[in-house]
Amino acid sequence: MTESGGRLAGRRLALGVTGSIAAYKSVELLRLLQAEGADVRVLMTPAATAFIGSLTLETLSRHPVDTDVLALQPNGKIGHIDAAHDVEAIVVAPATARWLSAMASGLATDTITAACLATSAPVVVAPAMDGGMYTHPATAANVARLREYGYRIVEPEEGELASGMTGRGRLAALPSIVDAVVAAMSDAPRAGVAAARSDYAGRHVVVTAGGTAEPIDPVRFVGNRSSGKMGAAVAREALGRGAAVTLVLANATVDPPAGARVIRVATAAEMQAALQALTPPEGPAFDVLVMAAAVADFRPASAAKRKLARGEGLKLNMEPTPDLLAETVERVRAGLAASGETGPVLVGFAAETGSLERAPEKLRAKGVDMLVANDVGEPGSGFGTDTNRVTIYALDTPAEELPLLPKREVARQLLDRILVRLEARRPRKQET
Ligand code: CTP
Repeated sequence: MTESGGRLAGRRLALGVTGSIAAYKSVELLRLLQAEGADVRVLMTPAATAFIGSLTLETLSRHPVDTDVLALQPNGKIGHIDAAHDVEAIVVAPATARWLSAMASGLATDTITAACLATSAPVVVAPAMDGGMYTHPATAANVARLREYGYRIVEPEEGELASGMTGRGRLAALPSIVDAVVAAMSDAPRAGVAAARSDYAGRHVVVTAGGTAEPIDPVRFVGNRSSGKMGAAVAREALGRGAAVTLVLANATVDPPAGARVIRVATAAEMQAALQALTPPEGPAFDVLVMAAAVADFRPASAAKRKLARGEGLKLNMEPTPDLLAETVERVRAGLAASGETGPVLVGFAAETGSLERAPEKLRAKGVDMLVANDVGEPGSGFGTDTNRVTIYALDTPAEELPLLPKREVARQLLDRILVRLEARRPRKQET
């Protein structure tokens, strides 16, 4: 199943894991939630890390795992507060007797209780413990208290327990926890969360992604290693925040997010035609352009009509391709002069190797509002990876160096910064 297809497609969740032996099942639960299309970040109590390494959940969730209520995340944010405001539901599985007690009394000594206290999103709790512990009146009272908060309890099952005894205390079957999350999200009033997720409503975002392939002959081409993951992440994030998205996609190895209008292209010339159609003389048909695609800088001056034979080798006569970003920016500006409209926000990417020193000059040369530069030679930050370390350049603000982050998080942070410019330039019409 792809990320875009399931019952939780495009939804953001937090999975809270506490210190029960059933913590090992959280890996499978995470996978099931992801298979439903959810973007899941993980919070753990310190005791949970004695049962399962946070690295496992960090790797699989593609988000930093928050285990320490007193620590900041690599991006400088307070993880549990950020999670509380960002996610649309929190699922705590497994939840220990200690955790139920802490939550019932509002004792915020771990990241999960802290996030649950701070959130307005629905909370689903799946207890797991020894049978005697679950039936003890103290635990029963704590569970009853959590129900009063509106939390949805997924009752543990009867069966064999870690102690070897049987009783009610086994973590509920994982599919029923997933079903409870789906149900909680469809019932939940989405106030607050909905507002945070629709800040791009009414906006049209155009994204280019992937890498162009320039034909040498009918079977060979000159290409690059771009997977399209970064551009697809920007498109997915913009869709999740309510934008209409057009994705100009060149030879990507990733699936485009569901809901985007996808224009597939192969060559720089085809991408040029797509961008021309989106920037007619009367003005651009978008509010934001993010050029994340790796466009070839050179192409064979002419492609052979028939497959070339190995023969004596091959010398290619290459010509430069047009700079699509620079010419699109120029066309946009000309269209605006004609229409008198304020401009869209224009963003380029720059793939460098070794140093980003050419980025400020590229920002000016391309005429964009922002340029996102990365060193594609650095581990974890290049083509095909799920993470990226970028520096964002703009004419009116100092360069901002972001840490190594999942591409989805880079996309989110980039769209946050674009939105500030967009609101200043083209304020959203108030709903009446
Ligand atoms: N770009 C473009 N058309 C090209 C080459 C690049 O539109 N023919 C765009 C890319 O989509 C990216 C930005 O320009 O948004 C920067 O690309 P990059 O390859 O880093 O810069 P170049 O202009 O190619 O400069 P150089 O080759 O000197 O690095």
